[in-house]
Amino acid sequence: MNIDFDLLLDQAKSASEKAYAPYSGYKVGAALLCSDGSVFTGCNVENASYSLTICAERNAVFQAVASGQREFLAIAIYVDGEVLFPPCGACRQVLAEFNPNLQILYANRLGSILSDLDTLLPQAFTLSEI
Ligand code: THU
Repeated sequence: MNIDFDLLLDQAKSASEKAYAPYSGYKVGAALLCSDGSVFTGCNVENASYSLTICAERNAVFQAVASGQREFLAIAIYVDGEVLFPPCGACRQVLAEFNPNLQILYANRLGSILSDLDTLLPQAFTLSEI
């Protein structure tokens, strides 16, 4: 499938507008493309007990899985600011559960980088036998 990353990024941007980030100030949105062409979005949701915060990427994955999707092709992540961060380690591990080669576009107000999960999380933890 030809992936329209511009469209996926727009969806991640819209999702970032819903972010609840009163503590860090970083509003993050993610848009996850499934193999059937559907897209699930998520935003970060922070908490006064900081460690309970959920990232935008995991929020999107959990929404998709709860809707019956498990095959993912790509994710776009948008941070509304001038920092540019790839998915955190916890999100990489959760994404690797479903597609260790997932394409990953991460972006901020100034630009974007296209990468993939195999690059960002080489030799990911799995329970499969060798
Ligand atoms: N955050 C994400 O949503 N995704 C990441 O991959 C890294 C960090 C959020 C969590 C927190 O609300 C804020 O960004 C700052 O860490």
